[in-house]
Amino acid sequence: MISQITKFGFNGNPKIPGDKSISHRSIIIPSISNGICEVNNYLKSDDVINTINSFIAMGVKIYENGNKIIIEGKGLDSLRKPNKDLYLGNSGTSARLLTGLLSSQKFDSVLTGDSSLSSRPMNRIAEPLKKMNANIITNSGKMPLRIKGASLKSAEIEIKIPSAQIKSGVILAALNANGITKIIENNISRNHTEIMLNAFEADINISKEDSKKIITIKGKKELKSQNIDVPSDLSSSAFFIIAALINKESHLKLNNINVNPTRNGILIALKKMGANISYSNNRTINNEEVCDIDVYSSNLNGCDLGPEIAKLMIDEYPILSIAASFANSTSVFRGLGELKVKESDRLELINLNLQSCGVNCKIDNDDLYIFPSKEYQIKNNEIKTDFDHRIAMAFAVMGSKIGPLNIKNSDSINTSFPSFVKEFNSVGGNIT
Ligand code: S3P
Repeated sequence: MISQITKFGFNGNPKIPGDKSISHRSIIIPSISNGICEVNNYLKSDDVINTINSFIAMGVKIYENGNKIIIEGKGLDSLRKPNKDLYLGNSGTSARLLTGLLSSQKFDSVLTGDSSLSSRPMNRIAEPLKKMNANIITNSGKMPLRIKGASLKSAEIEIKIPSAQIKSGVILAALNANGITKIIENNISRNHTEIMLNAFEADINISKEDSKKIITIKGKKELKSQNIDVPSDLSSSAFFIIAALINKESHLKLNNINVNPTRNGILIALKKMGANISYSNNRTINNEEVCDIDVYSSNLNGCDLGPEIAKLMIDEYPILSIAASFANSTSVFRGLGELKVKESDRLELINLNLQSCGVNCKIDNDDLYIFPSKEYQIKNNEIKTDFDHRIAMAFAVMGSKIGPLNIKNSDSINTSFPSFVKEFNSVGGNIT
């Protein structure tokens, strides 16, 4: 796709789709609960559809009703052996969460994915689960994963990598394990799994020891289904927020955005940079914090962000790097090691593509430096995405300011935001 300069800035009220993390959990958790769950505003994207198809293949009745999806849950032990491998496409969240869940089932299963997912590290979820007796055979630490269902024992598990996917995989395994599992989390990571399980009456307890978060789960307690309203995705809204910030004459209003404090780092970072953003109508929906966001064109300052904030906004560095390219001073983003093992090596692709756009930037170990200038001469207008949806959307925003940029393999956008181009163009974008 080609993204060209916007003519009149970004104005209006684009519809941001449902949150991807919460949508996955809205399929997984009701599928092993008792009762009927109606999910409103779920993200109907490739990643989530792969999760839905996996549970249908395991015998769960899941169907659409208008804009909602209905899930008929029959309890912790109700899943059936699928008669084929479960294909999870591009979705790291499905892979890590399902590995945990399936390791405590009575049947064997195989998880596969596309070439990007098949190159991502899976020992990070297999190793902690093995402490609970899980039987997982990886392909040299990668997919496909062969999971032999087992009766899991409780254990004390420390989550060393800052990852909600690992934590959530272990929590889902613990739901069907014998005894009480203790999870020690050294770093903050998004807590959508804990919030939803609390509402579904799991025996889950959260406390603090020193600076660590302790999660205890008593296994074998049946869950009770609830209806879920999925708020809109902050990560998807970030592309619109930054499009409005960097382009003149812009004002966007984004409704119903999830601002869960375990993943709102992008808003903290943009405030530090002097962004003109205001919040209204703050409320909670299914115990998730939600509000409406107004964002206006702004003169941004550069900023120096430490590794602590990286845990609160790991998915937003591609688009934050675009904002930093139009700030009035240097930015340094530190501690981005985890960016290398996302849907692509995002650190490398941000650096490469910014340089193609004429931006002076460099990587030093796991830190990214961006030295903005007033004007850019595009050196190579072909943007390499390695099929990564967030790289594609971030450089579509770049194109709105300096285009035309030819964003290769942009179909990957369907993994998280199928309506991106339509919404972007409806508020001032110029993508063909
Ligand atoms: C997610 C957690 C994050 C994030 C991903 C979604 C989740 O990954 O990057 O897009 O839904 O739990 P990590 O937990 O591995 O950092």
